[in-house]
Amino acid sequence: MLSSVAHSLRLGCQGSRRSIATVISGNKTSKLVRERLKNEVEKMKSQFSGFRPSLVVLQVGDRDDSNLYISTKLKAAAEIGIDAKHVRLPNTATQDEVLRSIMSINENLSVHGLIVQLPLDSVNHINNELVTNAVSPEKDVDGLSCINAGKLSRGDLSDCFIPCTPSGCMELIRQTGVSVAGKHAVVIGRSKIVGAPMHDLLLWNHATVTTCHSKTPDLPEQVSRADILVVGAGRAEMVRGEWVKEGAVVIDCGINHIPDETRVSGKRVVGDVHYTSANQRAGFITPVPGGVGPMTVAMLMENTVQSAQRFLLNNQSRT
Ligand code: GUN
Repeated sequence: MLSSVAHSLRLGCQGSRRSIATVISGNKTSKLVRERLKNEVEKMKSQFSGFRPSLVVLQVGDRDDSNLYISTKLKAAAEIGIDAKHVRLPNTATQDEVLRSIMSINENLSVHGLIVQLPLDSVNHINNELVTNAVSPEKDVDGLSCINAGKLSRGDLSDCFIPCTPSGCMELIRQTGVSVAGKHAVVIGRSKIVGAPMHDLLLWNHATVTTCHSKTPDLPEQVSRADILVVGAGRAEMVRGEWVKEGAVVIDCGINHIPDETRVSGKRVVGDVHYTSANQRAGFITPVPGGVGPMTVAMLMENTVQSAQRFLLNNQSRT
């Protein structure tokens, strides 16, 4: 059954009717998630005398794109009732200083979620792996530590934090009403934040999964076999509509800026999928912007609320 947030469009085309895909709205789906979380936080506050989930976003440096992402996260948190703090270290911070800052937040019992905004913007060499693994697995609401990634890869989905973008993609796939079990899913990209966890998530939801990357020789052929296609390649409009299987679910995680002289800014945002051509073949498709992006933020909020709920559960059972 098709959910209310996926709406179908039909295009009249000189007498013939040409199908275009049903658009899966991340804006609408994320709003539903955020409203549900707001109610859950309200309940927590009244049951546990003012208790609020709390999130820290740790930033190193001052990248414009990170500043924008962080302000979106802080705004979403405030609307839900999550107490979110932005901790910024200068771009001169050393690896040791970043690690010390993480340790101190790990030890702070009033913080339930901690994310280190990536990429790090430092004049010093900082080992990303060391930093993401320093976050306590119980507060790792980005799901990037080896512990959480390992649990996900083994299928322990209820005992880990799932990275926010793949988790948001699954929510969007759910909105289509298309069942994942038994389908052939193709993921393009194998990053730790999108492609690799997306593979695991689809696999443990019982799809047969092919993960493609920069050395995959026959990408159009692989894409043409996908009932469900998730693209996190970081290359503007790389996937052409002609490659897409008729009726496929197409989820586009890309956010790329391309020149556009018709815009005041001189540029516009596109995904990793060539939307107008893929739209003619897919059954369902996410737009960019307004697709996966808002879901990433909503799922970060979901993980933070879940972390606070686990904290309450553990503390109750101790008393
Ligand atoms: N940078 C871009 N997306 C993300 C994300 O989901 N988490 C973190 N920590 N950094 C990001």
